[in-house]
Amino acid sequence: MKKKITAPVLENKKIADGIYDMTLDVPEIAEQAGAGQFVSLFCGDRSRLLPRPISLCGIDAEKGTIRLVYRVTGKQTGTAQIAERKAGDTIEVMGPLGNGFPLEMAEGKKVFLIGGGIGIPPMLETARVLADKAQVESVLGWRDAETFLRAEFEPYGTVIAATEDGSVGTRGNVLDAIRENGLSADLIFACGPRPMLRALKEYAEKNSIPCYLSMEERMACGIGACLACVCETTEVDSHSHVKNRRVCKDGPVFEAGEVKL
Ligand code: FAD
Ligand code: FES
Repeated sequence: MKKKITAPVLENKKIADGIYDMTLDVPEIAEQAGAGQFVSLFCGDRSRLLPRPISLCGIDAEKGTIRLVYRVTGKQTGTAQIAERKAGDTIEVMGPLGNGFPLEMAEGKKVFLIGGGIGIPPMLETARVLADKAQVESVLGWRDAETFLRAEFEPYGTVIAATEDGSVGTRGNVLDAIRENGLSADLIFACGPRPMLRALKEYAEKNSIPCYLSMEERMACGIGACLACVCETTEVDSHSHVKNRRVCKDGPVFEAGEVKL
C-alpha cells in the first residue's frame, strides 16, 4: 500500500491559460515511476479529502523530481488550490500509481504518441523514454494557439499539431491531422478525452494497429479501494455479466479492444 509523502514544491508556474507546471522533490516516487503512471495530489483542505489524479509529465530519477502539468478546472476547485502552492511550500502526494504504457512493445517500431488537451502531458515523458528506442511521431491536439508543451516534444521525433480553431497545424482533431498528413504507424499510445479515445479505438481497429489508451476516468480513492472509477470491459464472465476494471489500479492504460468507450 502506497503512503502519502509530504513533498517540497520546487516550482509551480502558469504556462498557458489555466494550465500549470509543477515540479516536486520526491525521490521515493521518481525512482520507481514510469511513463503513463500517475500520482494523487492532496489539496490540504478538510473539505477536499479526495486526491486529484495527475499524470507524470516528467520523471528525473537522478534528481529525484517529478513534473506535473495540470489544468485548473474552475474557481474553488481542488486544482485551483493546488495552483496556489509556491516554491518552498509542500504538498502531500501518493504514487507512482497505475500501470503505465507497455513501452517494450514500441522498441524498433514507428509509434504514434497521441495526446489531446490535458492528455498531452503524459505523452511527453513517454516520448522522452522512447526517443532512442522507437521512431516517435507525436500527434497532439489543442483547443487554440496556446499549444503548451509543443516545443518540448520536438527533440524526440516528428510533431504534428491539430487545433480546434485551426490557428496552428490542422484545423480539427488528432485524427484529422493523421488523415491530412497521410500518416501511419505500427503502434498507438494515446491519452485524452473520451470522444478522442473512442475515435482512435475505431481507427486502430479499422487499420489493424495495436493501440493502448490511457483513460482519464473520474476517481475517488485512486488506489483500487472504492470502485468509483470502474469502466466496462469487452469481457464477460461465466454468468454473461460484463467484467469491470478499475481505471486507477488495473489502468489507466488499457489495450483499446479491452474496454468499452
Ligand atoms: P473538482 O470538481 O473539485 O473535483 C471533484 C472530484 O472529482 C475530485 O475528487 C476529483 O479528483 C474528481 N474528478 C473530477 N474530474 C475528474 C477527472 N477528469 N478525472 C479524474 N477525477 C476527476 N488532469 C490534468 O490537468 N493533468 C493531468 O496530467 C491529468 N492526469 C490524469 C490522470 C488520470 C489517471 C486521471 C484519472 C485524471 C487525470 N487528470 C489530469 C484529470 C484530473 O484528475 C481532474 O481534472 C481533476 O481531478 C479535477 O479536480 P478539480 O479539483 O479541478 O475538480
Ligand atoms: Fe477508488 Fe479507483 S478511484 S477504486
